[in-house]
Amino acid sequence: SSLTYFFHPLQPFQSIAHRGASLYAPENTIASFQKAIDLGFDYIELDVRVSKDGHLVVIHDADVRRTTNGEGYIGDLTIQEIKMLDAGSWFSPEFSNEKVPLLEEILLQFGGKIGLLIEMKSPENQPEMTELLSSILKSYIEIGLKPSSLKVQSFNTNEMEKFHTITPNISTGLLLNEPLDLFHLDSYRSFASFLSIHHQLLTQPFIRYAKKYGFEIFSWTIKDAYVLQAMQRLGVHGIISDEDFRSTDTALYT
Ligand code: G3P
Ligand code: CA
Repeated sequence: SSLTYFFHPLQPFQSIAHRGASLYAPENTIASFQKAIDLGFDYIELDVRVSKDGHLVVIHDADVRRTTNGEGYIGDLTIQEIKMLDAGSWFSPEFSNEKVPLLEEILLQFGGKIGLLIEMKSPENQPEMTELLSSILKSYIEIGLKPSSLKVQSFNTNEMEKFHTITPNISTGLLLNEPLDLFHLDSYRSFASFLSIHHQLLTQPFIRYAKKYGFEIFSWTIKDAYVLQAMQRLGVHGIISDEDFRSTDTALYT
């Protein structure tokens, strides 16, 4: 129960900037990723989708409306059209020059400087995504990017299994946002090395089993210092958050 783990010591963790340091700069842009580096995060988390002309672009929603000045679905827009969009003004006028990045731009600019936790968004609706991501990451590994600096995750079990099969040297994880039984946990071991779990689902017994099975555990999306503390007492390996908690008294970053 929460009472018992209240007395557990606070544990260090890896800090993962959710869509970049998205409290301070527009999510999933060069500005939010650079901010995460400036703040000293260990990883950036970013979302990828496939454009009409078959490129991986970094954006959370299927529709560009919320985070750009444009309209339409990413899958209906070409890179040329996507690159005309302003991906920063919705957040603040000072970011009006931000564009929707291509994954390759992020790999070139930030690969090796900070860990990359890449989320495949809705691969069930974009069947080419998994092989595309695998081949792009392999090509960057061939030119020197360390596989240990990369992690790939998705809510889609089948696609993660497929990604792992075709890209065994990159750490693969499952995103979970509903309670799961321990039988499933066992079956994920063949392809997943980490689990990214909504913080409300995390309990002490679950963590104990997950650790026994050898999974790393990340929790999302932490928005206040109280929940951060609870996660630290549970001993999660990584905290996915928009915010830098370094200034809070309790945060023990690795
Ligand atoms: O990495 C966890 C988190 O990113 C999953 O939710 O909607 O922000 O992609 P969402
Ligand atoms: Ca995400």
